[in-house]
Amino acid sequence: MSAIKEEIITGIKNAITSKKLSKELTMGKLDGQVAVITGSARGIGKADALLFTKEGACVVISDVDREPLIETAREIEDTGGKVAWCIADVTKPEDTDKLMDTAVDKFGDLNILVNNAGISRDALIHRMTDAQWDMCVDIILKGTFNCIRSAAKYMMKKGHGGKIINTASVMGLMGNVGQVNYTAAKAGVVGLTKTVAREWARFGVTCNALAYGFVHTRFTADKETGEEVAGEKMGIPKKARERMLQEIGDKVMTPENAAKPVLFLASADSDYITGHVLNVSAGIYM
Ligand SMILES: NC(=O)c1ccc[n+]([C@@H]2O[C@H](COP(=O)([O-])OP(=O)(O)OC[C@H]3O[C@@H](n4cnc5c(N)ncnc54)[C@H](O)[C@@H]3O)[C@@H](O)[C@H]2O)c1
Repeated sequence: MSAIKEEIITGIKNAITSKKLSKELTMGKLDGQVAVITGSARGIGKADALLFTKEGACVVISDVDREPLIETAREIEDTGGKVAWCIADVTKPEDTDKLMDTAVDKFGDLNILVNNAGISRDALIHRMTDAQWDMCVDIILKGTFNCIRSAAKYMMKKGHGGKIINTASVMGLMGNVGQVNYTAAKAGVVGLTKTVAREWARFGVTCNALAYGFVHTRFTADKETGEEVAGEKMGIPKKARERMLQEIGDKVMTPENAAKPVLFLASADSDYITGHVLNVSAGIYM
């Protein structure tokens, strides 16, 4: 072979290798995946959506709050992410059906479901109202069930596969004064997670839960100055919050910190993990 021919062939080989390398380097962990994230207008769900789209997923964000949801969609679009939004109350099966259909209509499939929507309605047991109990259990436990049941027609197919990530809490594992409704609902999410993992393993669907500790969102803000949601202030009473922060110190997470393990459970990195409750509390609970 002439020297010139050899040089051309080497040049072509190098070009192919560098193209392959650059493709590998730009591959996101969720390329080609379609995800639905509930309660993603703000807080942890929003951070999940931003991270997922950065990693190549098409994401349907959803919430009961229209304005912040649309604002989040705009923010994601500004980063070049592929996003659609859908108003959906997870307590309503017709809404959760519509939500899963939106993923398939807009992006052609449904591969990942993050059940993140949640609320707290705190009171000591003897003062807790039926409304407070029902609201927590309906949104957290029934809402998670509704979404999974609505996803069944897309995920329960031989060879389809999928990832379901449910949001639990360390409080559901250890109990917490003033949160009998919240802790019972979150503990319920753990049982539900393990049953889905068993029932849908044969379809290649994994189902895991995350048990968060303390994440900086309106959930954990000062109650006195906190946001009002459905007639009650969100957050933790200032004194209790200060005591808690003194105790847990550097164990407080940002929503961005909290989103990273969600990405792990949504990606192929966790393909052989199912029915697991991942403790993401920086050691608040062990
Ligand atoms: N922040 C923490 O320290 C912490 C700790 C443990 C668990 N969690 C859990 O993490 C999840 C996210 O919480 P966050 O801290 O980001 O709170 P957040 O209040 O910032 O976000 C929750 C979102 O859920 C939405 N939502 C409420 N009811 C809904 C419904 N019926 N249908 C659809 N969406 C609804 C809200 O509008 C809100 O946008 C919750 O499940 C919460 O219980 C949070």
